[in-house]
Amino acid sequence: MSKFGENILVTGANRGIGLALVQQLVKTDGIKHLFACCRNPDGAKDLIELQKTHTNVIPIKLDVQDDQTIQQAYEQVTNILGTDSLNLLINNAGVYEEDGGSCDNPDRTAFRKSFDINSNGVVMVTAKFLPFVQKAADHKQRAMVANVSSETGSSGRAYKCDFNLVSYGMSKAALNYYTKMLSEYFKDSGIIFVAFSPGWVRTDMGGPNANLSPEESTSTVLKTLAGLTIEDSGRFMNRYGETVPY
Ligand SMILES: NC(=O)c1ccc[n+]([C@@H]2O[C@H](COP(=O)([O-])OP(=O)(O)OC[C@H]3O[C@@H](n4cnc5c(N)ncnc54)[C@H](OP(=O)(O)O)[C@@H]3O)[C@@H](O)[C@H]2O)c1
Repeated sequence: MSKFGENILVTGANRGIGLALVQQLVKTDGIKHLFACCRNPDGAKDLIELQKTHTNVIPIKLDVQDDQTIQQAYEQVTNILGTDSLNLLINNAGVYEEDGGSCDNPDRTAFRKSFDINSNGVVMVTAKFLPFVQKAADHKQRAMVANVSSETGSSGRAYKCDFNLVSYGMSKAALNYYTKMLSEYFKDSGIIFVAFSPGWVRTDMGGPNANLSPEESTSTVLKTLAGLTIEDSGRFMNRYGETVPY
């Protein structure tokens, strides 16, 4: 079994940080199933390519805004896992609404979309797959839910944030709250719940001027996740595992 366990699910796995997480994870020995969830698996060229050499990569359709696809993804995962458990759920899918997401010219649709993907979507996906993760904890295996957040979601650092990032930051702050709440509610479950910031990364979202490549960010993130224990549950951290204030 790998240091992350045998079965892992990543959302938003077709590009950016999600794809880089999958590309790094396949290098880890002992992973049986790597469920690479995305909105359009048929068009996920990089995942399809990766699957040719790594048959444990399983692209699965999942739109975090669409409950029907969450249910269908759940059924697919259930069929494949059988009585097995899920050791790691990485809620990575996210959006940054550049237009209408600011304080001075807010657009309700942009705010709604930010929240629906960055926070509500994570709640829906986690609720569906948590029983699988609980099964891992019950069998004394590695069991973790890792939510990809952002330092813009730190209320403690809101004074440093760009006014244009407000819908994004608010939706990530809600995600952080949810992570903390899960860790309290399921305190004795044996599951590690964390929110982490990957840093500023050169993806479609982060843009070309970001200081980290997806590989640089995710290799550090995975090293950090691999070293976490139940004592870390409920923490909001940067990619090095250093605490970020809620
Ligand atoms: N890049 C950064 O500097 C940075 C910094 C801090 C935090 N983050 C966080 O890191 C995560 C990944 O960001 P990224 O930089 O890789 O962004 P990205 O390159 O824009 O990729 C976003 C991913 O999320 C997926 N996604 C969007 N809406 C979705 C939905 N409704 N259902 C399922 N998947 C959906 C996208 O799928 P499609 O291809 O189908 O759109 C894509 O796979 C996000 O949560 C983001 O907030 C990024």
